[in-house]
Amino acid sequence: MKKIKTQFFCQNCGHSSPKWLGKCPSCNEWNSFVEEEVRTIDGEGAQDLKFNGVPMPIDAITADEGERVRSGILEMDRVLGGGIVRGSAVLVGGDPGIGKSTLLLQVLQKLAEQELTVLYVSGEESAKQIKLRGKRLGASSKNLLVLVEIDLDAILRQIKEIKPAAVVIDSIQTVYSSVLSSAPGSVGQVREATEKLILVAKKTGIPIFLVGHVTKDGSIAGPKVMEHMVDTVLYFEGDSGHAYRIIRGIKNRFGPANEIGIFEMRDNGLIEVANPSEFFLSERPEGASGSVVSPSLEGTRPILVEIQSLVSATNLGMPRRTAIGVDHNRVSMLVAVMGKVCGLQLGNQDIFINVAGGVKVEEPAIDMGIVASMASSYLDRPIDAGTVVFGEVGLSGEVRGISQMDVRIKEAARMGFNRCILPRTQGRDRQTGEGARMKLIRISSLKELLGHLF
Ligand code: TYD
Ligand code: MG
Repeated sequence: MKKIKTQFFCQNCGHSSPKWLGKCPSCNEWNSFVEEEVRTIDGEGAQDLKFNGVPMPIDAITADEGERVRSGILEMDRVLGGGIVRGSAVLVGGDPGIGKSTLLLQVLQKLAEQELTVLYVSGEESAKQIKLRGKRLGASSKNLLVLVEIDLDAILRQIKEIKPAAVVIDSIQTVYSSVLSSAPGSVGQVREATEKLILVAKKTGIPIFLVGHVTKDGSIAGPKVMEHMVDTVLYFEGDSGHAYRIIRGIKNRFGPANEIGIFEMRDNGLIEVANPSEFFLSERPEGASGSVVSPSLEGTRPILVEIQSLVSATNLGMPRRTAIGVDHNRVSMLVAVMGKVCGLQLGNQDIFINVAGGVKVEEPAIDMGIVASMASSYLDRPIDAGTVVFGEVGLSGEVRGISQMDVRIKEAARMGFNRCILPRTQGRDRQTGEGARMKLIRISSLKELLGHLF
């Protein structure tokens, strides 16, 4: 009799161990180890896994831009780096109800409209439910095939038979392989299904979208295990309480990472937001203190974001510091620098910072915006509505240059701003095109910033 080999897998990150552990050494999660069967590949299954490749010179390999299919949903194509790459595996993750199924059904419908046969595999909803959703989205093409199935082998068989132009698996946590005895959604099952599907994608050139759930308690294998395996990882940001949805490319083997696509959830599905700067600034209060606009670079695209601060004297021994959309530690550092360099002592102030619209900005270019907004709120002096600021701030209060300043200036000019406070760096001083209208104030320290603002 063959002995069944098992191992313990962390259900959060996929770390494996021969014996049970209370705490995962890889992701520090407690109580996340579950015993799962490990399959050794032999016999028939092994044949499937072989590419039988021979080495060949790289210049003999042909690949061109025709390898991409454009979905026609511009924001989606952008996040993917210019379209869907043949044979790629794309993981789409996000909280429940954020719009994963909706978006992918829309993508498939767009492809179906281009006379391509596409396949939507669902293990979560019945065909009727998908039809009802499709009705709202206007997805009714006869080229859009719906398959309700959770058995991996059956899914693979259908893909090989139909040879669709794209496949969506909604969701990877429902897919079940009878080779393993563990339950659907466990790390072993998720890994097995992902592996097999990616293999089919690579062999046949069919792009595959995998929907992955993220749960807080980690009871379902998070898509973390899959992130390494797939080519592209897209995550939905923002929460389902708001109308907007942001998808961000966390990883992309075929394009720039960190690119974002912005959508608005309406009655009839996700609608692209063509002008994100306008969108994020649409509710900007006039003449309020604590608000400032800063051009941030998301992927390759500049987007103007509004940073809001509320600084008020604290009633507590330890003042509160809350930062939404910006890095908490960065804010603490800037508060310290402001105290030291500008003489603005915020040590006894509660500070709340928020980037309007729910977008997350992680680049240091936004430092000066954070400082400007905190100073404005603290001094209760509004910042001129036509001004934008950007630049990194160093520990001694110096203002440092950042990448792609021209692009940011142009975007601000396009949105009607007329004054820009930016780092003084060696570089071209002349702006061309739309940027020429902008009054540029170049500074090298935070002290100068306050002088120009107030
Ligand atoms: P869904 O795509 O089912 O989310 P996920 O697959 O990520 O779990 O999205 C469901 C939410 O979207 C639900 O709260 C209803 C809303 N929605 C709309 O507002 N308009 C629509 O046209 C559709 C299809 C859904
Ligand atoms: Mg869904």
